[in-house]
Amino acid sequence: MRITVIGSGFVGQSTAMRLVHRGLGEVVLIDIIEGLPQGLALDIKESSPVVGFEPTIVGTNDYADTAGSDVVVITAGFPRQPGMSRMDLLGKNAGIVRSVVEQVTPGSPNAIIIVVTNPLDEMTYLAAEVSGFPKERVIGMAGVLDSARLRFFIAEELGVSPLEVEAMTLGSHGEAMVPLPRQATVGGKPLTDIVDEAALERLYARTRDAGAEIVGLLKKGSAYYAPSASASKMVEAIVRDTGELLPVCAWTSGQYGIRDVYVGVPVRLSRGGVSEIVELDLNDDELAALRAAAEGIRAKCADLSDV
Ligand SMILES: NC(=O)c1ccc[n+]([C@@H]2O[C@H](COP(=O)([O-])OP(=O)(O)OC[C@H]3O[C@@H](n4cnc5c(N)ncnc54)[C@H](O)[C@@H]3O)[C@@H](O)[C@H]2O)c1
Repeated sequence: MRITVIGSGFVGQSTAMRLVHRGLGEVVLIDIIEGLPQGLALDIKESSPVVGFEPTIVGTNDYADTAGSDVVVITAGFPRQPGMSRMDLLGKNAGIVRSVVEQVTPGSPNAIIIVVTNPLDEMTYLAAEVSGFPKERVIGMAGVLDSARLRFFIAEELGVSPLEVEAMTLGSHGEAMVPLPRQATVGGKPLTDIVDEAALERLYARTRDAGAEIVGLLKKGSAYYAPSASASKMVEAIVRDTGELLPVCAWTSGQYGIRDVYVGVPVRLSRGGVSEIVELDLNDDELAALRAAAEGIRAKCADLSDV
């Protein structure tokens, strides 16, 4: 498998490193900055004898080197700075996402595109529009990250291993994130039996603001270890054709009463991209929140034509 990672900044380079370490395929790392992807690829390759992996990575500034990619991960674009919302990036990053999709798709017409650039839901829609690819082959990474953050915060609160915690968030990557308390478990027991309503609300609020918490601490740039782990998880499901159930920004066609908009929903990911959107048993409040998130994204996507 050939996996192109566009953008060699913090998210792109750490994603590329994780993909190579896991032996998921030949990785092509690309950026507009000359020397950056080449230097990073060389540095990663030089670690191969110590870490123990096949050094299958190239760095380039030339899209010809990305031809024939099976998966394309788009991380090119500006990250948030303290005080910024993800939506503040819309104008700046729309041009970048449009340009990279136009350049990468002619050589890789059968690729699956995973968008990471923010604002996530709107950039995923834009990538789908510009590529013209079938919508099941254009998806966005947010739900795996938000769910991981929530799982970690629950584990930290209860003093248990994060591996014992299952939880999922849907909706948008931002204010309209939709946590699913009834689906969350700790050591197999329902989370709602273990913590009270006030604790749940606190955990959700921290998850919703988790990106901003890290931006505030870093002062410059945004998170990349958990984001790159999440993007790599999605690549792995595709490359290994696992059909794993993951929360992903995907194109809806009537599921949950939502149609023709990108929003975070549980999907089965496999070699062809989204093989199924899974309809969980949501209650009325959860459904209303998911539909509201979808309508918020739809409105913002309409604004894209003015950018
Ligand atoms: N979806 C998520 O959950 C999530 C999580 C973290 C970060 N992000 C987003 O990912 C993006 C990247 O974050 P980062 O921390 O890596 O930023 P960064 O500034 O470290 O890296 C961005 C890279 O993109 C490159 N770039 C810019 N224009 C390009 C172009 N036209 N072609 C190729 N490369 C180009 C830059 O040169 C830079 O190397 C941001 O938009 C950030 O908000 C999303």
